Amino acid sequence: MTAKVDLTGKHFLKLLDYSPEEIQYLIDLSARLKAEKKAHQSQKVLEGRNVALIFEKTSTRTRCSFEVAAHDLGMGTTYLDPSGSQIGKKESIKDTARVLGRMFDGIEYRGFGQDIVEELAKYAGVPVWNGLTNEFHPTQMIADTLTIQEHFGHLKGIKLVYMGDARYNMGNSLMVVSAKLGMDFVACTSPKYYPDQALVEKCRAIAKETGASITLTDSVAEGCKDADVIYTDVWVSMGEPVEVWKERIDALKPYQVNKEAFSYAKPEAVFMHCLPAYHDQGTGVGRDVYEKFGMKEVEVTDEIFESERSIVFDEAENRMHSIKAIMYATLGADKETE
Ligand code: CP
Ligand code: NVA
Repeated sequence: MTAKVDLTGKHFLKLLDYSPEEIQYLIDLSARLKAEKKAHQSQKVLEGRNVALIFEKTSTRTRCSFEVAAHDLGMGTTYLDPSGSQIGKKESIKDTARVLGRMFDGIEYRGFGQDIVEELAKYAGVPVWNGLTNEFHPTQMIADTLTIQEHFGHLKGIKLVYMGDARYNMGNSLMVVSAKLGMDFVACTSPKYYPDQALVEKCRAIAKETGASITLTDSVAEGCKDADVIYTDVWVSMGEPVEVWKERIDALKPYQVNKEAFSYAKPEAVFMHCLPAYHDQGTGVGRDVYEKFGMKEVEVTDEIFESERSIVFDEAENRMHSIKAIMYATLGADKETE
């Protein structure tokens, strides 16, 4: 395959750093690698390489995706868990970057501030991939747009409504990717939970070039009108104190994704969620929330989560194919296989 786009050596920290063509290239490469894997083709094009996976917050999908994708590509992996390394406590990010950069061909980082992953990238000397920060979750975006493209056949003009806490990693990232790819993004939530105004302005400027639109509304009827995708995420994110649950529930209860929200959407609209989700009583947090606040299902009802409209497990599977594409392209495997 001849790559028009060359991402060799490039970090993957946030989609603001990527052009629409580069993002579309990663989506299409993910689709190609997915098809190859389904056809049981060997993908061991990065044999002998090694990647470090730093997780300062917990994970199921992102960790497993990096590990399976790396192994499929023939690479070795080293997992550093939230308590099992010197990072931040006994060793600065700058020093950690210079140490790991001598041993590994690429580094994944999941943790807190975006400034940390940016600092890691500055000193590592090898590609650094953002596996989630407070501000952004860019690997999730390639999986999500791949899933939407698979489902609807295109991305331009898709109306994606994000309900819930839109000022955190998921709301920010979906707004950015929508702006880049010409989608109509709506943050449908209480105004206190709108994305940061400076980021909204930035995305509106990008939208002018791509034909996208960015709308903020506190009206569910208006926000969800003719939606193609209704998307939500947990109302309290990793690293936030449990005390914020009360204010979140008070403010975000009207923005639960349920039958009413979907009644305004297109008949063929789908439900998406990055997962994990509090949609039933199957989790400790879900049970605590019920005990304290009387809500049996939180950001989405079980009815919607389990319905035909829900494409959340396609989305979860696509995390692996898209993370594979991100490593493949930034480690130059597409150039090597030309
Ligand atoms: N969606 C997502 O990032 O899931 P994990 O927290 O399980 O990695
Ligand atoms: N907003 C969530 C996303 C989890 C994938 C969190 O940061 O916990």
